[in-house]
Amino acid sequence: MPSAPLLLPWRLALPLLAFVSVPFLLPLTLPFLLRSSVPSRQALSLRRLDWLPSPLHRTPAPSTPPPPPSPLPMAPTTMSLSPAPPLASSPPQPPDTAGYGESAGGTCDVYDGGWMRDEEARPLYPPGTCPYVDEAYACASNGRPDASYTRWRWAPRWCSLPRFNATDFLARLRGKRLMLVGDSMNRNQFESLLCILREALSDKTRMFETHGYRITKGRGYFVFKFVDYDCTVEFVRSHFLVREGVRYNRQRNSNPILQIDRIDKTASRWKKVDVLVFNTGHWWTHGKTARGKNYYKEGDTLYPQFDSTEAYRRALKTWARWIDKNMDPAKSIVFYRGYSTAHFRAGDWDSGGSCNGETEPTFRGAVIGSYPEKMRIAEAVIGGMRFPVRLLNVTKLTNFRKDGHPSMYSKAPAARKKVSRRKQDCSHWCLPGVPDTWNELIYASLVLDPKPRSWKHH
Ligand SMILES: *[C@@H]1O[C@H](CO)[C@@H](O)[C@H](O)[C@H]1NC(C)=O
Ligand SMILES: *[C@@H]1O[C@H](CO)[C@@H](O)[C@H](O)[C@H]1NC(C)=O
Repeated sequence: MPSAPLLLPWRLALPLLAFVSVPFLLPLTLPFLLRSSVPSRQALSLRRLDWLPSPLHRTPAPSTPPPPPSPLPMAPTTMSLSPAPPLASSPPQPPDTAGYGESAGGTCDVYDGGWMRDEEARPLYPPGTCPYVDEAYACASNGRPDASYTRWRWAPRWCSLPRFNATDFLARLRGKRLMLVGDSMNRNQFESLLCILREALSDKTRMFETHGYRITKGRGYFVFKFVDYDCTVEFVRSHFLVREGVRYNRQRNSNPILQIDRIDKTASRWKKVDVLVFNTGHWWTHGKTARGKNYYKEGDTLYPQFDSTEAYRRALKTWARWIDKNMDPAKSIVFYRGYSTAHFRAGDWDSGGSCNGETEPTFRGAVIGSYPEKMRIAEAVIGGMRFPVRLLNVTKLTNFRKDGHPSMYSKAPAARKKVSRRKQDCSHWCLPGVPDTWNELIYASLVLDPKPRSWKHH
């Protein structure tokens, strides 16, 4: 496979750093050296929160060969900032013998890794060919001239992902419903999933939206049926996962409110779904939600002023309670997809920030190590749940990808002239692109993690 690992900067950096200051470097490289003693045959697993904290077995194993060279050179700053992955030396267990909720060790964090060029196997579908990519993410059709951003594959540092196989993905979904619930970022991921699964169909008419709807941001519910696999892939819009409402003031004006202790109205649709993928995040940083004035409501109390981060925590707890009460781990899998990083230069989404002209990922700098407080909150809430929610911990892999956003190519050329300069989209992702990887990670999780008990062997 002619994938060219990005070894060059690292190879250059190492001797240079060693030359500069050995005593200074030692504390930085020590974790790396320690990690090198981990046996290379590690249990593959997607890290699930209920496996944490993993015990650290620091077995000195001089006789075991070191792992193959890391596919990705992390910038030294990143290396010293990011926590070391759990070191475990328990032998791999066949996933089928492990009971649900137990783990095979959780030794390989598939979210710790880097992007590799893969001209042969990426993108998973040719740009401009998938009819389910709506205009906002159809960068190639909208005239984006470069395509290099479609040719990266995510490579975990300490193991490899199962080779992506859309046919097998569909076979695993046979007779089941998969539903993405969340904001437009999840619609982005939903369209990606439709496109990568579509590639497995020799007859593309064997999938369709059951009501004949075309995907637009105006509609909040879509159901795609894959006839030959008797399965559906669905999207339900829910910006906050908790209930949006309105209140009327004395002048009879209506104002939006958010009831952080009540689950969203769409929750009735979530019940009984076999695979659920949730997210919420970006809307919590917008205007009225961020300001929190006369907006958050709990019980009968409308708070005159409330902190949006605390509101996010309480909303997620409301969601967690609902999942624990209504979902059965023996029947369903629930994912929570972590925060997807935006890359605005010189401004924000509503103040002239931009990301046009970015054609390569970034491999160094503070952005690589960034991990928002909301993710710590999500980890804490999920960690306290009875239901073993699987965290799709994609924040870090998105940190690198300043090249992946639509920027000024979120509109067809005719419409673009008017808006592009003022408002660029540096939050969502071009398709094909980064969300394809999130779906590959869902596939990996279905392959590597034990199935719910009630799922028949496929
Ligand atoms: C993909 O999965 C299908 C169904 O499980 C299998 O028949 C096929 O051989 C797989 N393809 C590859 C390249 O592994
Ligand atoms: C998710 O990834 C970040 C690195 O980006 C890491 O700090 C964090 O511990 C991970 N969380 C889990 C639950 O694995």
